[in-house]
Amino acid sequence: MKPPVFPIDMKHFWIDPYPVLAKMRNEAPICYVPELDATLLTRRGDIFVCEKKTDVFSSVQPDGLMVKLMGENMMRKDGDSHSLERKQAQASVSPRTVKEIWASQFRKHTLAILDNLEGRGKFDVVTDYAMPVSAHALRHITGLTNLTATQIDEVSQAIIDGIANYTGDKNIEQSCKNATKLIDDSIDTMLQIEIPSASASLLNVLTNAGQAMDSIRANIKLAISGGQNEPRDAIAGTVFALLSNPEQLAKLKSGEIRWLHAFEEYARWMSPIGMSPRRIAKPFSWNDIEFQPESKAFLMFGSANHDELVFKNPESFDISRNTSKSISFGAGPHFCAGAAASRTLIADVALPLLFERFPNIALDGTVEFRGWAFRGPLSVPVRIFD
Ligand code: HEM
Repeated sequence: MKPPVFPIDMKHFWIDPYPVLAKMRNEAPICYVPELDATLLTRRGDIFVCEKKTDVFSSVQPDGLMVKLMGENMMRKDGDSHSLERKQAQASVSPRTVKEIWASQFRKHTLAILDNLEGRGKFDVVTDYAMPVSAHALRHITGLTNLTATQIDEVSQAIIDGIANYTGDKNIEQSCKNATKLIDDSIDTMLQIEIPSASASLLNVLTNAGQAMDSIRANIKLAISGGQNEPRDAIAGTVFALLSNPEQLAKLKSGEIRWLHAFEEYARWMSPIGMSPRRIAKPFSWNDIEFQPESKAFLMFGSANHDELVFKNPESFDISRNTSKSISFGAGPHFCAGAAASRTLIADVALPLLFERFPNIALDGTVEFRGWAFRGPLSVPVRIFD
């Protein structure tokens, strides 16, 4: 049978998708949402199995906005062409490279950002801390050290807005084009400068691997659009969640629970990437639901991470829970390439250093979260008291 039709109010979905997703999981776990013109998979079990069926749930989407605006990156490829580019990038983002090269860079920049916050009394964790921490990490990983942290954040946002510009807003499209041009210019400049051949930057390892220049450009744009706002939102969001749950924060400070658990639980509770799109490549039926070739399917990771069949009290933030079944980084061959870098940046550096430097930090206003495809706090105002 055809998937049941489940209309949604896009504004409410953007403000808080979780109640609607819970209703979908309950009443129509695979449903067609006319406002998105896509079939949504909302249960963890279905996503976990279907994402791996890449002959059906294809990442190749030549007519999609991402390919049109950024070029064909690894996230829009399947099979051998995907795995080759993924393998070529590995030397830049493997757990070993993160540990041996990036971890010390992350620490150096984060300590400097904390020094700048000394004496401020009040600041916004999103813009004043998480944003530059995330952006400096990305400058080094990509190799685009000629861009500032603010430029990285701005181009990342402009690209994200551009690839979600389903209404065809001309201003959004132009900002996205300006952002991709800035990245191309930055790449051109960095290629003129002699990058040490041993550099582990994405630009250097992809060039050394002989990847075609168009693909290098597309993959660097992918890393910038997909690697800035998620760590930024995860750092700031976890700080909010911990300041709202002081008894859990105390367990982290005492070493009873590891900081990694706080990040993994945050990413389950308020998934920074709520969904990943696929194109249905051939006729397919799953749980009696028929998927039409060339239709769109959305793998709703944020919903999977709240699946009541897997997580008890999914709406509550609890760093002592077992998050091993959470799929915040995906569950198939496109599993996030930046996962090791994110875990180190957030759990080994950003969270412990912030709470170490400012043991007396408290929330200083209300915090609102927005988004369903990408979700994070708009601001996290804090004050430091003596
Ligand atoms: C909290 C941090 C992050 C989260 C939650 C996250 C989440 C995700 C998710 C859900 C996907 C799609 C997986 C799928 O479709 O199966 C993805 C893909 C990807 N992410 Fe991340 N990400 C994070 C940080 C980063 C960073 C820092 C980078 C770059 C340094 C990055 C680079 C990528 C790339 C290149 C892909 C595409 C991989 C492929 O197609 O094989 N991500 N990420």
